[in-house]
Amino acid sequence: MELNARFGLRTAAFTREIPVANLFPLPQRAAALAALLKVVEQRQSAAFIAAAGLGKTLLLRELRDALPQVRYAVRYVKVTSLSKRDMCREIAAALGLAPVGTYPGLVRAVQEAIERRVQGDGVRTVLILDEAHDMRPDVLGMLRLLTNFEMDSRLVLSVLLVGQPPLAQLLRRPELEDLAQRLAWYGTLRPLTRDETRDYVVHRCTIAGAAATTFDDRAMEAIFEMGKGNPRATDHLARAALEAAHLAGLDRVGAPHVIAARASLQP
Ligand SMILES: Nc1ncnc2c1ncn2[C@@H]1O[C@H](COP(=O)(O)OP(=O)(O)O)[C@@H](O)[C@H]1O
Ligand SMILES: [Mg+2]
Repeated sequence: MELNARFGLRTAAFTREIPVANLFPLPQRAAALAALLKVVEQRQSAAFIAAAGLGKTLLLRELRDALPQVRYAVRYVKVTSLSKRDMCREIAAALGLAPVGTYPGLVRAVQEAIERRVQGDGVRTVLILDEAHDMRPDVLGMLRLLTNFEMDSRLVLSVLLVGQPPLAQLLRRPELEDLAQRLAWYGTLRPLTRDETRDYVVHRCTIAGAAATTFDDRAMEAIFEMGKGNPRATDHLARAALEAAHLAGLDRVGAPHVIAARASLQP
């Protein structure tokens, strides 16, 4: 018997590839999404900072889907090891410029485009920098290029800086103070509570076709104790626990399977 057949799964459960429509709804996610939408509607910028695995990147996907394509040009960049020149190219591309040429040439082209844009009111541009905690301070400082010093304190395009907690430290550096002050909203996500974690596991079972009762109460407790409400950790534990129960020939997951799962997930 195969694992999927045993648990009645139509698709693999607890995977990373989850359609936006199937996301687990949570008040804190809805609130963060609404706040981010407001930020970009007002052409402002924001920082969204939370630990790994709490659902930041998925929320960005949701945001992208929620923004009408006729009015918003969204550019998503995963910034791991971005140089100043790369950063400038990304900014240029977000502004609809050809991201080519020398570094000083690019800087000039960006600044000219910004001056032209001050009057215009066309498509709103959103630059999403994910994993921004990995950015070098001088590269992050490049965002100053986007400041329209003459008009007001806003950035010419909405920049969403998204990353793990070291991003907050980065933004507290004195040389980035002016950038940090221009961010209109600082958002975060917290780990799920015990009840939310249980509902999350049930939701992920149900959308994949499995019974809501696939994990017994003790298994749910163990998942919360070990995964601490982190959705990614919960996924990994739940998936490995399904396998452990399957190997034991059982169609219900108990705490021992979660314990075996954890052992299989540790270095
Ligand atoms: N609302 C949600 N619904 C379903 N799965 C979620 C949700 N939030 C997080 N996850 C799960 O957690 C994993 C981590 O989310 P992700 O957005 O990549 O986190 P981050 O970017 O904060 O590290 C996702 O791959 C997904 O499996
Ligand atoms: Mg992410």
